[in-house]
Amino acid sequence: MQTETTYDEARERRFPEQVAIVIAKDAQGKYNPIAVSWTMMTSHEPPLMAISIGKTRYSLEAVRLAKEFVISLPSAAMQGDVVFHGTKSGRDMDKLAACGTKTQPAVKIDCVILADAVANFECKLVSEHETGDHFIFVGEVVASHMNEAASVRRLYTLGNEQMGGVLPG
Ligand SMILES: Cc1cc2nc3c(=O)[nH]c(=O)nc-3n(C[C@H](O)[C@H](O)[C@H](O)COP(=O)(O)O)c2cc1C
Repeated sequence: MQTETTYDEARERRFPEQVAIVIAKDAQGKYNPIAVSWTMMTSHEPPLMAISIGKTRYSLEAVRLAKEFVISLPSAAMQGDVVFHGTKSGRDMDKLAACGTKTQPAVKIDCVILADAVANFECKLVSEHETGDHFIFVGEVVASHMNEAASVRRLYTLGNEQMGGVLPG
């Protein structure tokens, strides 16, 4: 049985929710990361992935300017990186350096991938769609990377400011 409630109350039941870190080169030439829960695969052929970025985010300008970005799926050990990149703005600092997030060069775009992530996807911007107070950016995956260790757990948000690692079945 269901009981009708508010949108705000019902959406608290969505956890666990995925989280990614999206990275794009900004106007100053630094690679700026942002924590993003709103991301999905949206086509197999061609391989397309989408991210939803709020209109107030510094990352919005970076993604538009660079026209390319990395979607990185953080591991459980990266909880501190997710909180940092999800609460600080690249307007004020070099977030990757300040947080000490480990990076490797991307191979097909001018960006970095995250060394301790479960997987990384390099994307070229294909289109942009306004959705209320966010913009959805669709990118074509041009290179993919995975952690050498299959046992690394992917990080999920659990609600009530908790996070935890999950392994595939
Ligand atoms: C777990 C988590 C998930 C988030 N998901 C999104 C998201 O999907 N889209 C978004 O625009 N901001 C999201 N945010 C907020 C941004 O990460 C946050 O505003 C960040 O400081 C923006 O950085 P920037 O100003 O350098 O772009 C999320 C934050 C956290 C902690």
